[in-house]
This record gives sequence, C-alpha cells and structure tokens, in this order.
Amino acid sequence: MLIKIFYSIFLLFIAGTVVKGKECVIYRAPLGFIFSTATSAYQVEGATTEDGRGPSDWDIYARIPNVVRDNSTGDIACDSYHKYKEDIRLLKNIGVKQYRFSISWTRILPDGTLPKINHKGIEYYNNLINELIANDIEPMATMVHFDEPEALNNLGGWLNKDMPQYFGNYTRLLFATFGDRVKKWVTINEPLSVSTYGYCGQTDRGSPGDFKMHCPWSKYLSAHYQLLAHAEAYRIYEREFKEKQGGSIGIALNTGWMEPMTNSTEDREAAARALDFSLGWFAEPIFKGDYPQSMKVGIAERSKKDGYIKSRFPEFTEEEKQKLKGTADWLGINYYHGFKVANRVDFPYGISQEQYDGATIRELVFSDPQGLRKVLNYATKEYGVPIMITENGYRAINDSLNDTPRIEYLREHLIGVLQAINDGSKVLGYTVWSIMDNFEWSYGYIIKYGIHHVDFNDPERKRTPKASSHWYKDVIAKGYVEKC
Ligand SMILES: *[C@@H]1O[C@H](CO)[C@@H](O)[C@H](O)[C@H]1NC(C)=O
Ligand SMILES: *[C@@H]1O[C@H](CO)[C@@H](O)[C@H](O)[C@H]1NC(C)=O
Ligand SMILES: *[C@@H]1O[C@H](CO)[C@@H](O)[C@H](O)[C@H]1NC(C)=O
Ligand SMILES: *[C@@H]1O[C@H](CO)[C@@H](O)[C@H](O)[C@H]1NC(C)=O
Repeated sequence: MLIKIFYSIFLLFIAGTVVKGKECVIYRAPLGFIFSTATSAYQVEGATTEDGRGPSDWDIYARIPNVVRDNSTGDIACDSYHKYKEDIRLLKNIGVKQYRFSISWTRILPDGTLPKINHKGIEYYNNLINELIANDIEPMATMVHFDEPEALNNLGGWLNKDMPQYFGNYTRLLFATFGDRVKKWVTINEPLSVSTYGYCGQTDRGSPGDFKMHCPWSKYLSAHYQLLAHAEAYRIYEREFKEKQGGSIGIALNTGWMEPMTNSTEDREAAARALDFSLGWFAEPIFKGDYPQSMKVGIAERSKKDGYIKSRFPEFTEEEKQKLKGTADWLGINYYHGFKVANRVDFPYGISQEQYDGATIRELVFSDPQGLRKVLNYATKEYGVPIMITENGYRAINDSLNDTPRIEYLREHLIGVLQAINDGSKVLGYTVWSIMDNFEWSYGYIIKYGIHHVDFNDPERKRTPKASSHWYKDVIAKGYVEKC
C-alpha cells in the first residue's frame, strides 16, 4: 500500500544554523514493486550484419533516403551487441531489479523460419541473460519489438495468415532455449503501432513492404494476425513449458488516456470509443475473447458508407475467440501521452482512420500523469489482471545532461502509478524508457529518451549519466518518490 506522509524537512546548513522548512509529500512504492528500464534490439544492438544475423524490415526500411528524419540507421546504434556488459553496469549502478530488452528474431532465425538456427545469435542472448542474472537483474524478454524478419515481410508480414505459426515456431525455440532463465516474456511490443504506422503509415513508408492493400484494411488485418500470433505463443508456453519453467507471459500495449473534451454525453461517449480503438482493440480480444463492440459497429457502418460490401474489420471465429481469451498473465502498458477527445461525425475520410472509423477527434496532451493513473484504474476494472508499466519516458530534442524536465515528467508519472495502487490497482512495476539514448525509429537519433546520454559521434559510443539517472537511482534506493 501507498503510504502518504505529510511532513516537513528541516535542513541544517553547514555554514550556519539556517533552518529551512519545506512541505513534502512522500509516495512510497509497495514491497516488491519492480523498478525497471528498457531497450529494444534494433534500437541499441547495432551489428546488424554480424555473426549471421539476417535482415529485418527495419534494416531495409531505414536505408531508404528520407524515411528516417536524419537518414540514420540502427546499423551501429549504441553498439550494445559488443557493449552489453557496459550496459549492465549502468543498470547495476542504478539499482534496477529488472531489465526489459528484446530479442532480434533474425539474429536467432536469419530467415525468420526454422530450421536454420543461428547459434551465434543464441550465444549473444545467453551471454546477455547470464550477465544480467549474475548481477541480480531479472531479464524480461520481448520476443518481437518492430524488427520483423525481412524474409517473412516478403511473404506479406503480418498480413500473412501463416504469420502466427511462424511466430509460434520462433517463440517455441526461445522458450526452449532461454526459458530456464527468462521468467517474464512479452510477446509483441505495441501491436497498435505496428499496425497503425507499419501497415497504415501516413508516410506510406513501404515498411514492412509495399503492400497494395488499402490502408485501413491492412491496418486492421495486421492487428488481427498479431493478436492470433500472440495467442499462439501463449498457448505454446502454457502447453509445453509453463509447468516446467514457471514463468509468465504478457504483451506490451501502448495507449494514452482518453479524456472527454467537454462533459457532453457525445464527448464522453467519444472518449470511451477512442479508448476502445486504442487499448480495447487488443486488450478485449486477449482478456474477453473478442473485439470491442464499438469498433465492430463503427467500422462496419463506415465501411458500408464508403461503399464496401463488407466491413474492413476482420472477425474471429469461435475457435479463435476461445484460443485468445485469457492469454496474458499480466498486462504490459506503454504509456507516454494523454488525449482530449471530442465526438466528430462529419470527419472527412482520410488522414487518421482511428479517428474516422471511431468518429472522434483527438488533441494530444504531452504530459498527462493523472491519465496514467486513470488508464491503470480502468484496465484493472475491465480486465482484472496485474499490470506492468512496460514503458514510460520523456522525449526531448534539445536534451542536456541536466535533464530537469525529464525528472519532472518521470516523477509525476511514477506518482500517478503509485496513486493508482492506492486506488486499488495491482501494478507490478514501472519501466523507464530508456536506460540510454538510442535509435528512435523514424526520428533516428534526433529525439532522446535516455537517462544516459550516448555520444553517437564517438566510435566508442560513450555513455554518460544524465541527472535523471541519479534521480531514478535515488528513488530506487529509497523506495519512494518525493514531491516538494
Ligand atoms: C537524406 O537523404 C536525401 C537523399 O540523399 C537528401 O535529399 C536529404 O536532404 C537527406 N536528409 C538529411 C536530413 O540529411
Ligand atoms: C512450425 O509450426 C507449424 C504449425 O504450428 C508446425 O506444423 C510445424 O511443424 C512447425 N515447424 C517446426 C520445424 O517446428
Ligand atoms: C466535467 O465534470 C467534472 C465533474 O463535475 C469536472 O471535474 C470536470 O472539470 C468537467 N470537465 C470539463 C471538461 O468541463
Ligand atoms: C532546439 O534548439 C535549436 C537551436 O538552439 C532551436 O532552433 C530549436 O527550436 C530547439 N528545438 C526545440 C524543440 O526546443
């Protein structure tokens, strides 16, 4: 339980006897609360052509001029493939008890498929996992974090109905190889982002392939097969590994909180729909066995209005619903921003399909820590499982080592999490994205999320702690956040 103590700190200054009074509030983390940080393979590892790794979609995509804003790639990134021991020293120094990293599918299976296994890739992750455990840091492994095998993309990627089976075979190999030591698995990172940007990107990015399918159709279908792939992995673990290995499986879903723009009934309903189109799109099938009703109805209506003979929203068979229902031991949430949502029925077709199909319009709220509290309380009420904050972080362009705005952002969000626990939500822990600056997808190296600075002009990729890393270390050591 959260213990909230109002108290005054009286600081005795060495130079004199000046006494300063300050009202502070302490938000204490419950016993066993996990403080963590995260990265993903393509964003930090580099060594994309080394030791038998096969190409991922991002290797190919990032090389196309102008798709990444600074024309950069993850070919070297933070060079963590060679510097993982140094990364683990940073983690150890901060005192995190868990590290969320991702496994590069093509480092393990260069073509994405069995039976060609790359033993050098397995060796790398064995080394990483063993080094974490030797330092008392629990590994949490994400099985795919945006970097799908290019060979499978060429077969349609997540639009291919066989993808769940390819993913299943890959995950079985991961469970069999690393499951004696990895006890927490994240199947897929942000399937919403994969479908929305990867299969329906506004830049028509071509990654993961130049699919000639009309954008909103490909968005919903790629989400559909990601959900079935997630269920496949969960069921494989449940049947073949769980009893022996005793681990647990979740998924990392990204969502913001959707706050109604006004208190009108229309806007409150619009905000509820927007949350369905964000969190519910994935969480409802996983916990309840089917898509949210508001999506089914809204997308069907609008597909009809657009002249299609059927809805662009796919349906699960009864068998698939049964297979999906109950496929997460805990829910991972990646939370960054909130939104203000209004009803908008006359939305013109185009730009953003969530908004069109959902008949909503959204305004971004960059920092909305109370929204995080509301998301946690909402998800607890709807799904009833423990929740792990698998990502939360502050992005900056003109970042500095004295990153006070990041500290303020992280502090407020961590407080939001601890308040949600006090409200009755079961939250397992909190993960800062990221332990260090890294390759931020289509923003390249322009935007920074790290609590360590990385010098990307230095061949050694020198890591330097920012003020936020000292702040986080202090919070972890004390087990509470303080707001004065
Ligand atoms: C990226 O590369 C393209 C093609 O070479 C070039 O036109 C563009 O100016 C480059 N952008 C940056 C930010 O360097
Ligand atoms: C891959 O998965 C499919 C379907 O689950 C299965 O039939 C096949 O035997 C698997 N291949 C291997 C090599 O395990
Ligand atoms: C809606 O009503 C609640 C409760 O009365 C109030 O706290 C909130 O500020 C109102 N929101 C807006 C946008 O007017
Ligand atoms: C970052 O700094 C540059 C140069 O001082 C300035 O032009 C730019 O507006 C700043 N960007 C942001 C987002 O603060």
